[in-house]
Amino acid sequence: MIFYFSATGNSKYTAERIASVTDDRTVFLRDAVRSRSYQYDVSRETRIGFVVPVYFQGLPSIVSFFLEKLHLTGYSDQYVYLVLTCGETTGDAAGQMAKLLKRKGITLSAQFGIPMVDNYIPMFKIPGEETINEQLDQAEEYIDDAARAIRAMGIGDYNRCAGMAPGVRTAAAYPVYAHGRSTKPFVVTEECIKCGLCQEICACGAITLFGGTPEWTKPHCVMCLGCLHRCPTQAIRWKHASEDNGRYYNPRVEP
Ligand SMILES: Cc1cc2nc3c(=O)[nH]c(=O)nc-3n(C[C@H](O)[C@H](O)[C@H](O)COP(=O)(O)O)c2cc1C
Repeated sequence: MIFYFSATGNSKYTAERIASVTDDRTVFLRDAVRSRSYQYDVSRETRIGFVVPVYFQGLPSIVSFFLEKLHLTGYSDQYVYLVLTCGETTGDAAGQMAKLLKRKGITLSAQFGIPMVDNYIPMFKIPGEETINEQLDQAEEYIDDAARAIRAMGIGDYNRCAGMAPGVRTAAAYPVYAHGRSTKPFVVTEECIKCGLCQEICACGAITLFGGTPEWTKPHCVMCLGCLHRCPTQAIRWKHASEDNGRYYNPRVEP
């Protein structure tokens, strides 16, 4: 069983590629949280995986929320692994995960890091098609290495993207996400075609449509940026920052 969260497809692609090697089923955390599905029977599972993106050198809030609620019946020290997709560095996101799992009596057996396309457009530009393809080709090598290790149930720290002083990085960056994130910077332009996709895909019900146009009615969201990236007319913007920074969805996986 592989639990994954993904806004722009990198982690979905990674989870599905690993699942094809390990012959496991995948569970999308957004849908699990929406349907309040927190209990899973893992008695027949050999491996339990989590594939999630890194936010501010730590875990997306939906992942910690899900883990607090999660109840695994039939858990008996199976192999549990974490795959972090990132733009460049994961910091100590795996340490956060290990702590959350420990509270549930679950041991993290192995961790992996996969550098992919960085979707944080409030700060970075999405590269051109050629660079995206190069980055995804390289990511595939990392994913296939990880999948082989996972199939063999290799134990340990396989993450080559933690960066220097991962604990310090997380301690410095994560509070900005944990305490400072806000839906205020989202703006909608008149290019909005009132399709409602943003509300449909929102991971945490932060969007309400008024006359078909989105408004962020929650002060905080997961900050996955799915609405920003997937708006078909790019009518959703992040203040002025994202106007020229492009949009991204992993071209190798179905949304
Ligand atoms: C709010 C936010 C914060 C991010 N912070 C980091 C980070 O600290 N380090 C990093 O390497 N990438 C960071 N990223 C990039 C994502 O981790 C990366 O693009 C990931 O593969 C996206 O996964 P997805 O396509 O499954 O949503 C961040 C992205 C977002 C949206």
